[in-house]
Amino acid sequence: KKPVGVPDKDLARKVTKVGIVGAGLMASQLALLFARRLQVPVVLTDLDQGRVDKGVEYVRGQIDKMVGKRRMDEGTAAKLRGLVSGSVDKSVFADADFVIEAVFENLDLKKQIWAELEKIVGPETVLATNTSSLSVTEMAADLEHPERVVGFHFFNPVAVLPLLEIIKGERTDDATLATAFEVGKELRKSCVLVKDAPAFVVNRLLTRFTSEVFRAIDAGTPLATVDTALDPLGLPMRPIALLQLVGPAVAYHVGGTLHQAFPDRFGDSPNLKKIVDAGLPLMVDDEINPEVVKLVEGGDA
Ligand code: 3HC
Repeated sequence: KKPVGVPDKDLARKVTKVGIVGAGLMASQLALLFARRLQVPVVLTDLDQGRVDKGVEYVRGQIDKMVGKRRMDEGTAAKLRGLVSGSVDKSVFADADFVIEAVFENLDLKKQIWAELEKIVGPETVLATNTSSLSVTEMAADLEHPERVVGFHFFNPVAVLPLLEIIKGERTDDATLATAFEVGKELRKSCVLVKDAPAFVVNRLLTRFTSEVFRAIDAGTPLATVDTALDPLGLPMRPIALLQLVGPAVAYHVGGTLHQAFPDRFGDSPNLKKIVDAGLPLMVDDEINPEVVKLVEGGDA
């Protein structure tokens, strides 16, 4: 049964080439998923060749791993390798029908990228954003065709987690939304239509959880105590590992968006800020980073 608010699939446009803005970990995971499931050319772009090469290498590495685990035969792998390429020149997006951006969470940067891209792509190309918390409506506000912008929010690890939040901006049209849902289905994700609200649905819930974790740490409870407190509930991951998976800077950013929107409900943790400012990973060798413990609790690492 078609979920409420999802337009008829007949309105969806065909996608024959996908562009990905960014070649970081999220973008590279997306490149692999789109090429594997849509079987169309996928091109990654980033600011310099080094980053682009790293992104393409990640995709090739993951394909090799699947072959190694006998999850994919060599013929399929060779075809898949041929579908993914990278470039520093965004003009490679000229004939893409679906472009998704997965760059750092900065509204101005994302707006600037869309403005640049609008000069390159056709008027009907869908511009999708993998933003974790920013307003899709605002991101599209200055565009000539804001109706082709949609939120397309994945969860880490992208290859494993089935959830995909599809966000309708105030001006997103039915053809764009229908295309997003059809693409999501081809990607074999469970698509949910969510409102364009700060951090949408899932990150708002998760951040409520992780921000309480940091509130307890800020109040002086040892990191290890807070981290293991919920073990008996059998969650798939402890909170500190989850925050590392998301990326401490991304988590801090999402928390900041929510703190601004709902200051009574979301804290702005001084300790998480200290960790992000110091550029420290939260986890090292599957353990809480001793440097983080030292930074937060004092004493020797
Ligand atoms: N990349 C790719 N594949 C991965 C992976 C990764 N980072 N981590 C694990 N996998 C794969 C493994 O290769 C394995 O595949 P296989 O069966 O083909 O070998 C499969 O996942 C299961 O992995 P494991 O057996 O090693 O580990 P677990 O059973 O413990 O599962 C997990 C790992 C799926 C990460 C699980 O711990 C989990 O679901 N954790 C919660 C993750 C979560 O909540 N993510 C949401 C974060 S919020 C977000 O991303 C939004 C953003 O906007 C911030």
